Amino acid sequence: MESLSTGIKGLDVLMDGGYPKGKGILITGPPGAGKTILGLHFLHRSCQEGRRCILILTRELTEDILSQARSIKLDLEPFLESGLLSIRNVFEDKMNKIKFVSKFGKGLCSVDADIIEYLSAMSSEVDVVVIDTIGVLAINYDIKEFADEFSSISIILLKNECTSLFIMDEDSYNLTHRLAGYMAFGLIRLMSQENFSSGKTKQYIYIEKMREKTVPVKYSLFDITPEGMRIIISMK
Ligand SMILES: Nc1ncnc2c1ncn2[C@@H]1O[C@H](COP(=O)(O)OP(=O)(O)OP(=O)(O)O)[C@@H](O)[C@H]1O
Ligand SMILES: [Mg+2]
Repeated sequence: MESLSTGIKGLDVLMDGGYPKGKGILITGPPGAGKTILGLHFLHRSCQEGRRCILILTRELTEDILSQARSIKLDLEPFLESGLLSIRNVFEDKMNKIKFVSKFGKGLCSVDADIIEYLSAMSSEVDVVVIDTIGVLAINYDIKEFADEFSSISIILLKNECTSLFIMDEDSYNLTHRLAGYMAFGLIRLMSQENFSSGKTKQYIYIEKMREKTVPVKYSLFDITPEGMRIIISMK
């Protein structure tokens, strides 16, 4: 199976070359674990390799994400300028719509921001899609609606042969009975272990599932440096 580099050397080794091409991988973990950083590495490397990428943001400002990328020496702006990378911000569009509709007294209820809408309109030439985060779907929908929405998103991306990362915070993941983990082709969890006496936190990346790939080492220690994520030690 062909793979796309994750943009992190140690992770490519663990993943037998990288993310499986054309498939969807779920990334989950607690706040501040490094989920967005994982996505930024993948986008940066994919653009460097000349792939067309889309980043869909649902919770944070585009400006903040670009600045976070710069802080770990991943400058995405040249790729935005060249058109290799597009950023769609559901959150900012929603804010603009709220401003707009409130002028007409309709309020929040008429605001409908939809990831599927973006994906349905995207060009068939897109190679890589990162959605940060699909956790909003867990808040907006009940479990059945979430499953429907997530499978629609997955099917559009699979049909377009996009290699995709779905980022989802751990609380939303648990709230939706970890359904997205069963539905995705692969599942990567970031986790941390606090040592209260030393005051140090250890961070682990756990490749819980990767269909059609042998992942001999599942747990690995990592840290986040000014150069981004770095795999330190791997454990069987
Ligand atoms: N330039 C940097 N140098 C060192 N560490 C950094 C740097 N930038 C971010 N970090 C670390 O990375 C963490 C944030 O990672 P990231 O934003 O990817 O987390 P996340 O899992 O997406 O969190 P959330 O669920 O809140 O979106 C911070 O808590 C910080 O410790
Ligand atoms: Mg994040």
